[in-house]
Amino acid sequence: MIKNTLISCKDVSKTFAGLDEPIINKLNLNINEGDHTAIIGVSGSGKSTLLHLMAGLEKTSSGQIKILNQNIASLDQDELGVLRNTHLGFVYQFHHLLSDFNAIENVALPLLIRRCPYKKAFKEAEDLLRKIGLGKRLTHKPGQLSGGERQRVAIARSLIAKPKCILADEPTGNLDGKTAHFVFDLLLDLAKENRSTIILVTHDNQLAARLKFHYKLDQGKLKKR
Ligand SMILES: Nc1ncnc2c1ncn2[C@@H]1O[C@H](COP(=O)(O)OP(=O)(O)OP(=O)(O)O)[C@@H](O)[C@H]1O
Ligand SMILES: [Mg+2]
Repeated sequence: MIKNTLISCKDVSKTFAGLDEPIINKLNLNINEGDHTAIIGVSGSGKSTLLHLMAGLEKTSSGQIKILNQNIASLDQDELGVLRNTHLGFVYQFHHLLSDFNAIENVALPLLIRRCPYKKAFKEAEDLLRKIGLGKRLTHKPGQLSGGERQRVAIARSLIAKPKCILADEPTGNLDGKTAHFVFDLLLDLAKENRSTIILVTHDNQLAARLKFHYKLDQGKLKKR
């Protein structure tokens, strides 16, 4: 079966002001639809930066990134927003839930952005939260949840709209080993159910080993492992 390229990076570099060396240095990567890819690297190697570039959350210094064959540099902010909202789900390294909104509201948000009717969005959010064991935390706000619970809410939010691709930045970084595997299992199960592509960045070799493709980010470049 020939798979379509979902995200491609061609000679991508990123330099931050004040740093001598580029953090990402002429990096090339192709992610096909359905691939489950892990990118590992030490702290500061540029994993979050790379993921932000691939999601169009940050601009490249040079090189080209395409999402579904569209050069994201040629899109304006609105077009990029639509592309991201339609096809990508992002799990941030630090959960980024909206603190004034409860679990259901946070999870329903991507559906509401896609103009899903209010009632339907809330029902789907509630169902998903129940499914991942948070049925008793539906109206809790992030400040009233444990770290693992918050991370589960963030995962539910990234998956609720069944995106083609999930970009997960250390989704279990702040959790103990057992909880990390539990939360990661949830992410994998839900992604498989939706046939979503996964791009995971992590410094945890054990988690990375559970995905099919592995790369190491080192000195701004990716090496296949
Ligand atoms: N906005 C910025 N301005 C200047 N330097 C930055 C900026 N963002 C990141 N950096 C630097 O780029 C490098 C890579 O950061 P990044 O967050 O991508 O690393 P990481 O691999 O995700 O690390 P960690 O495992 O700790 O999350 C770091 O040295 C960081 O200090
Ligand atoms: Mg990071």
